[in-house]
This record gives sequence, structure tokens and C-alpha cells, in this order.
Amino acid sequence: MTSHIDTALAFLEETSTDLRDAHRAYRVLMQHSHLTDYFQGGKQVLIKELQSHPKVFPRVPYIGMTTLQEQAYCEWYCTHLYEGAGEVVELGTFLGSLTKSMVNGVRANPRAATRERKVRVYDLFWWDFIMEGCVKGTAYEGMCKEGDWFVEDYKRSIRAWIDRADVRQADLTKFAYDQEPVEFLMVDVMKYEKLCVNVLRQFFPALLPGKGILFHQDYLHFYEAWVHIIQYLLRDYFEPVTPIDGSGAFVFRCTQAVPPDLCTLQAPLKDSWSDALVEEAFAWSKGIVGEENQAVVNAAHVMMYAHLERWEQAEATYNAHAAQFAGHPSVIELRAYFEDRFQRPLPGQ
Ligand SMILES: C[S@@+](CC[C@H](N)C(=O)[O-])C[C@H]1O[C@@H](n2cnc3c(N)ncnc32)[C@H](O)[C@@H]1O
Repeated sequence: MTSHIDTALAFLEETSTDLRDAHRAYRVLMQHSHLTDYFQGGKQVLIKELQSHPKVFPRVPYIGMTTLQEQAYCEWYCTHLYEGAGEVVELGTFLGSLTKSMVNGVRANPRAATRERKVRVYDLFWWDFIMEGCVKGTAYEGMCKEGDWFVEDYKRSIRAWIDRADVRQADLTKFAYDQEPVEFLMVDVMKYEKLCVNVLRQFFPALLPGKGILFHQDYLHFYEAWVHIIQYLLRDYFEPVTPIDGSGAFVFRCTQAVPPDLCTLQAPLKDSWSDALVEEAFAWSKGIVGEENQAVVNAAHVMMYAHLERWEQAEATYNAHAAQFAGHPSVIELRAYFEDRFQRPLPGQ
């Protein structure tokens, strides 16, 4: 079996041009976090270090709602794959775990002009109860209370990276994007229909054809089921690249310009999405995500029907996958959601 070091070396030495491997080589950073430092020395230094059977220095996460793998991916991408032909855009940042990772990468990028680029960060910066839960037990606990605007706290948390971040407080349900085309779009904000509709409209057509990368942070999460239908509707414009292991993220490459007239969905989506479309979209999605991600996509399939308030279809879909679901973390969350929020317990255990 090829090791993560071999995959990274094959990419750096250009003995492999495999797109998936290029995007999966971030895994080398998980056990060899010191390579972040070697990035600054350039390709030859990095290759030499990788060839020397480097010691293990496990990566430590930045505070936030993302995993080490997502952070490592964003850093790897911005160092080695980002060309600087378009913007790096972050939608939904919380305390900046991915801002820091992307800025680390941009700063180490081998192209001088690309190193001058800033990460464009957009967020509402309104503190909610989920955020309170995320910082509980950390030094950030008590920093804000529900309803506080936290843009200044965010800026403080990324102070050492802020020279490479262009931070905008924006409500992405209404915001109109009018900047340069986008080469890397990190989306961690498609949390409800109005956000899905406007993010799709404003940012997807801005992706650079051929180069544009869409990092869908919630593609492999049971709740944000809308994104499966949206990607299915746009399947002729994107190539699936890879899931990011140990996370809910999935990477797509934009193969041709996304026509704005395909990005005009209107909320509520239940008026426009038929059961037949849902079935086709989830069948397609299950075909691209790999064996290890079937249960979470099946859970999203159930959740899609819940979002559309089609309870019979939700239950039938749940029953169809019940055996595969046993004990899966997404399904535990899904069941809790049905019980607490919808007061409609799902059948069985
Ligand atoms: C899951 S969190 C992002 C986590 C982040 N990527 C990290 O690194 O930890 C979702 C983010 O979406 C933002 N958000 C929620 N509603 C929004 C809106 N209407 N407009 C802009 N941002 C919004 C929240 O403030 C929050 O920072």
C-alpha cells in the first residue's frame, strides 16, 4: 500500500499527475506537522525531508468546528495547488480554524504573486448557542454570549494571520459577490435554505472553470442535505475529487463555468424538488462518495425528506437503510433530531 509520504513525494516530484492523489497528499501533514515549516523552504527542501523518513510530530488542531484533516487539507491546497489565478474565499469562519490553515498555505506558496493574495472571509459573526457549546471548556469560554457580534473577537483570534485575510461581516442570505473569479471556495455556511440559495447564486458562477475548487465542508453531514441535490443539478459542471477523511468535507473541481441561470433556486425548495429528483440525486451522490460514506449520505437522504416535510418518504428511506445504520454516529444524531425537533421518533432502535 502506498504511504502518505509516497503520495506526497509522487506529487512533489511530479511522477504522478493524479488529481485525487494531489488533493489527498495533505494526509502527510497529519503525522508530520513540522512539514508546515519546511513548506517555506520550497519543494527541494520538502522533498529532502520527506525522503529522510521524517519523525512523527502529530498535528495539533486550531480551535474551531473543523477537524485536523480539513485544516491540513486547506493548508496543503493553498501551498501546493492554489495558483493565484483567482480568489480564495471562505464562507463561514467561526474563530478562523480554516482561515489560519489557508493563510499558512498562501504564505508558503512558491509563486511570489500568489503569496501576496489574501483570503476573503465572509461571515455574519453573530454568536449563537452552537458556538457556546464549541468553546466550552476552552479559554474562549465566556468570551461572548448568544446574540453578541463577534467580528472583533474573531479578528483577535486570527491576529497573527490577519495581514493575509480580508474580513467582511456579511449576511450571506442577502450578500452580492462582485469581486474577482474564485479559485478556492470553502463553503461551511449552507445551513438553511436561504443561505443555500444565495450562496449558490452569488458564488458558484464565480468559480474558475477548470481550476476552481469547491470545498463543501458539510457534504458528508446528515443535516445539510440540500447540497446533494444542488451538486446533482450541477453535475455536468463539477468533477468529484475526494472526500476529506475524518471530516464531513468533500472536494469538487469546477470543470466548466457554472451558468448563472442554473443557480436561481428559490426557497422554499419543497415547492420545486420532486421525490423523483431527490431519489436520482441521492443515488448519484452515493455513487461518488465511496463505500465508507454511504451511511452518512443515506442519513442525509432521510433528512432531505424531513426538510421537505415529507414524513412518509423520510420513514420509508430510513427503513430501507436501517440495517446499515446500526450505531452509525450520523444516525444517532438523525434520530435525536427527529425526536427532539420534529417530535416524530424514527422506527426501530
Ligand atoms: C459551522 S460554522 C463555521 C465553522 C468554521 N468553518 C470553523 O473553521 O470553525 C458556520 C458559520 O456560519 C456563519 N453564519 C451563519 N449564518 C450566517 C449568515 N446568514 N451569513 C453569514 N454567515 C453566517 C456563522 O457565524 C458561523 O461562523
